[in-house]
Amino acid sequence: MTADEMKKAVAMAALDLVKPMLAADVVIGIGTGSTANHFIDALKPYANDFLGAVASSDASAQRLKANGVDVLELNSAGTLPVYVDGADEFDPRFNLIKGGGAALTREKIVAQASQQFICIVDGSKQVPVLGNFPLPVEVIPMARSLVARELVKLGGDPVYREGVITDNGNVILDVHNLSITDPKGLEAAINNLPGVVCNGLFALRGADVVLMGTPDGVQSLS
Ligand code: 5RP
Repeated sequence: MTADEMKKAVAMAALDLVKPMLAADVVIGIGTGSTANHFIDALKPYANDFLGAVASSDASAQRLKANGVDVLELNSAGTLPVYVDGADEFDPRFNLIKGGGAALTREKIVAQASQQFICIVDGSKQVPVLGNFPLPVEVIPMARSLVARELVKLGGDPVYREGVITDNGNVILDVHNLSITDPKGLEAAINNLPGVVCNGLFALRGADVVLMGTPDGVQSLS
C-alpha cells in the first residue's frame, strides 16, 4: 500500500464514523491537506444528507463546494459535532503537530469548536515524542524577526517559510530541532509571544480518535 492509499483508507474509515451523525441540520468541520482532501472527496455522495461544512482553509472550502457540499461560516454554525483532519505528527497521548499546509490557525479554531476531533493519518506520522517535524508558527509579518529570536530562546531553530502567506495574511516560521516533552507547556509558551497568531501544537486540544493507515489496514486508536 502506498502512503496515498493509506490516506484514502483512513478517509473512508472516518466517513464510516461520520455517516451516522449526518442529518439535515448538521454542520461538520473539515481540515486541510492531502488526507483531508480524500475525506472531502469521499463525502461527495452524501453532500445532500447534511447541512454543510466549516472548512479550515480556502483550499478545502473550494474543494467542498466542487463536491456539492455547502460551506458555512463558523460564526453561524455554532458548536460542531465532529472535526476531521490530518496531522504532521502525533504522539501516544494524541498531541499533534499540524500546519504543514499552513492552515494551522483556522484548523485550531475549528477543532476547538468541535465536540470530537477525528485525526486521519498514515503510519509515518506516529512518533514517540513530537518535534522531528518542524513546528509551524503563524506570525504577524512585522513580528517575524522578534518572534524568531524568542523561539531560539525556547531552544528551537526557526526557519522562515519563504513565499508562503497564510489565508489570514500572515507568515510561517518552521521551528526545527525541538524535542517536545511538554507539548501543552510549549504550546502555551509560544502562544504568549507577542506577534504569534497560533502555533501548530495541538495539545491543549488534541485529537480524540486517531485513525492510522498501515499496510495491514486502518487502526483506530482512542
Ligand atoms: C495542514 C495540516 C495537515 O493536516 C497536515 O499537514 C497533514 O497533511 P497531509 O494530510 O497532506 O499529510 O496541518 O495545515
